[in-house]
Amino acid sequence: MRFGHFDDAAREYVIETPRTPYPWINYLGTEEFFGLVSHTGGGYCFYRDARMRRLTRYRYNNVPTDVGGRYYYVHDGGDFWTPGWAPVKRELDSYECRVGLSYTKITGERKGIRTEVLYFVPLGTTAEVHRVTVKNTSKAAKSVKLFSFVEFCLWEASDDQTNYQRNLSIGEVEVDGSTIYHKTEYRERRNHYAVHSVNAKVAGFDTDRESFLGPWNGFAEPQVVAEGKSRNSVASGWSPIGSHQLAVDLAPGEEKTFVFVLGYVENPVAEKWERPGVVNKKPARELLARFQTTAQVDAALVALREYWTEMLSKYTVKSGDERLDRMVNIWNPYQCMVTFNMSRSASYFETGIGRGMGFRDSNQDLLGFVHLIPARARERILDIAATQKPDGSAYHQYQPLTKRGNNDIGSGFNDDPLWLISGTAAYVKESGDFGILKETVPFDNDPKDAAPLFEHLKRSFHHVLHNLGPHGLPLIGRADWNDCLNLNCFSESPGESFQTTGNRTGRTAESVFIAGLFVHVAPDYAALAEAMGFGDEARAAREHAARMEKTVLEHGWDGEWFLRAYDFFGKKIGSKECEDGQILIESQGYCVMAGIGVASGHAKKALDSVQDRLETAHGIVLNQPAYKAYHVELGEISSYPPGYKENAGIFCHNNPWVMIAETVIGRGDRAFALYKKIAPAYREEISEVHRLEPYVYAQMIAGKDAVRHGEAKNSWLTGTAAWNFVAISQHILGVRPELEGLRVNPCIGAGVPSFTIVRKCRGAEYRIAVTNKATGKPARLVVDGKSIDGTLVPYAKAGAVVTIGCET
Ligand code: BGC
Ligand code: NOJ
Repeated sequence: MRFGHFDDAAREYVIETPRTPYPWINYLGTEEFFGLVSHTGGGYCFYRDARMRRLTRYRYNNVPTDVGGRYYYVHDGGDFWTPGWAPVKRELDSYECRVGLSYTKITGERKGIRTEVLYFVPLGTTAEVHRVTVKNTSKAAKSVKLFSFVEFCLWEASDDQTNYQRNLSIGEVEVDGSTIYHKTEYRERRNHYAVHSVNAKVAGFDTDRESFLGPWNGFAEPQVVAEGKSRNSVASGWSPIGSHQLAVDLAPGEEKTFVFVLGYVENPVAEKWERPGVVNKKPARELLARFQTTAQVDAALVALREYWTEMLSKYTVKSGDERLDRMVNIWNPYQCMVTFNMSRSASYFETGIGRGMGFRDSNQDLLGFVHLIPARARERILDIAATQKPDGSAYHQYQPLTKRGNNDIGSGFNDDPLWLISGTAAYVKESGDFGILKETVPFDNDPKDAAPLFEHLKRSFHHVLHNLGPHGLPLIGRADWNDCLNLNCFSESPGESFQTTGNRTGRTAESVFIAGLFVHVAPDYAALAEAMGFGDEARAAREHAARMEKTVLEHGWDGEWFLRAYDFFGKKIGSKECEDGQILIESQGYCVMAGIGVASGHAKKALDSVQDRLETAHGIVLNQPAYKAYHVELGEISSYPPGYKENAGIFCHNNPWVMIAETVIGRGDRAFALYKKIAPAYREEISEVHRLEPYVYAQMIAGKDAVRHGEAKNSWLTGTAAWNFVAISQHILGVRPELEGLRVNPCIGAGVPSFTIVRKCRGAEYRIAVTNKATGKPARLVVDGKSIDGTLVPYAKAGAVVTIGCET
């Protein structure tokens, strides 16, 4: 069952009913100012950091699920309603929500009034713009009242939800004509305020929540809206809000458009005040002046569209499979951009107060995004590397506002450092910018302890070698990619964090996954070392990788598949000897991606075991059998009920590792079949089972042991986005940048007989036409009319157009 449809020409998903199984959201903003907006208008916005600079309040896991947002209420002769249906939930004669690239447009109609609200953040702007059009579709003249509504957050989102003894006394605003200024804490240490304005004369306003709603009412029944009359309240403590009232008189067929702006403004500390107690409004006025007319807003929207058109033109496919095309051309890269900006901070599942930017997460996000904006990827790499510690280990997370490593979480996740090599290599392949390796980057943000970026990569690589366990495999530390495999944690106290608790500090627990990751990054690391002129280091790296590969086959192989780890006591994890958790997915995918056991047939065996033991109709589960009981020596993985999350859930992030692995052994049919199981556009028809947005990936789909098998959770902010893009675009469709040239070697199986790809890279454009006979053999290429040996197309000069014929 569907709740909407894709409109590919408009690059939109059109939600046709407000009664979706769960709020289906979108993200506004591409640079510094971001908003989340659901299909009813719920959500919130912030400047750069969802925890430290939150403009509007949001209550997570609320009842009902999605209340609180930027709302527009229509009061029409005693009747009142909201165009997104919720929060008022008065029935609409028509409803539609268009989820677009960095904008959302909600249209509701009731009793002859149609109201359309378009939400977006213009480029180069620290504000949301809401273009609200009210149209009289009836045959009689109408006088309606339009009320805006936002509830301000007192900036620090965590404190805002907890510290009421203080917070209920500090709220302050100023009102100046049609503009409301939220200035809580501006009198002391803040030099920023929020501004909420409309480009028309208001008939009234409110800034005090209780005055607007009435003491006993919620967002569904604001007293001011019900009565059709603002109170002109000025907040003093309690909960500041912003609400404007507009009188809208409409002849039959007439429409009027208003522009609302909700923005973030900073003043230099010395210029905070206009006069004592009155905030300096100059920058706010400048911001508002840019969005005074509908023409200005429409131009900003066109600019945003062009921004996306340009970005999405970097990789496009025409395959005849519309679901594949819309994933690759529109929605998957779009989600990659969102994960790049948000990391795991703010969604409807992540509260934006718990986690900053993850070291491993951000490096992986980059893999899906680097071709879209290489310059921003560069900056990101340097920021991440600056949080690395001098011994090569890494803070697990850093705060986007300060860009500093987060001490609460600390370090000790032994896979983290290696991801920096993956991320950097991807960037250099895309851009050809070897210069980044020479950029001076501090360790632990200490400018006195700085070194070229390459030195950071070197310390990453050697951190693994300095931390090998009894079998010569890498020590796992607190955990590796699987945050829930906590082999030194031994937690018996409820509430203790599995990620930061280390009750034992053994040097025994080892990870086969990290071994696979090490072998996988080694060739890239060696090539970068060579490019730096460090031939010895490159040779040594290759030798280390070869040794590690041997170690994996010797101590990391269980007979039919790769082991996952050794625990603190040296017992196998992911072995037929185990009662539960006999096989885990991560080492199968990554070891084969790294090429381990491909020649010897181990790789094929491992992937066959994945198919036999882990695959379901909804994707590949993480482990089998699911852990039935809590194992103190395994940690969080065994804390989840069977079938959810890391305990045998379908973790969509590591499914693409298996897809890529399948292409490594030439099984394109398998790779593409696995792709289609989890790609959201292919799951649209079962939206009542999947339940989350059919246009983006979720982190997890409940596995076969779960009561709710097939149901997704935690949409949007997941490394799933980047990895699936890598799997489909680089390995299945088979076009990927390497250091020396563009690799063209599709492996998609028989389902897609021909397709064309346009790939822009390093300023040149490659037009690739593929005839796919699914031979399973390397492709044969004709480049600008000449056959070439192999599948690597040398990079052309910027500006060139290269035509490639490809037969496979
Ligand atoms: C989740 C993991 C997550 C970890 C760290 C765990 O509860 O299951 O997916 O990475 O927390 O936040
Ligand atoms: C989500 C985390 O963000 C990611 O870093 C981790 O690898 C996965 N969970 C698996 O535990």
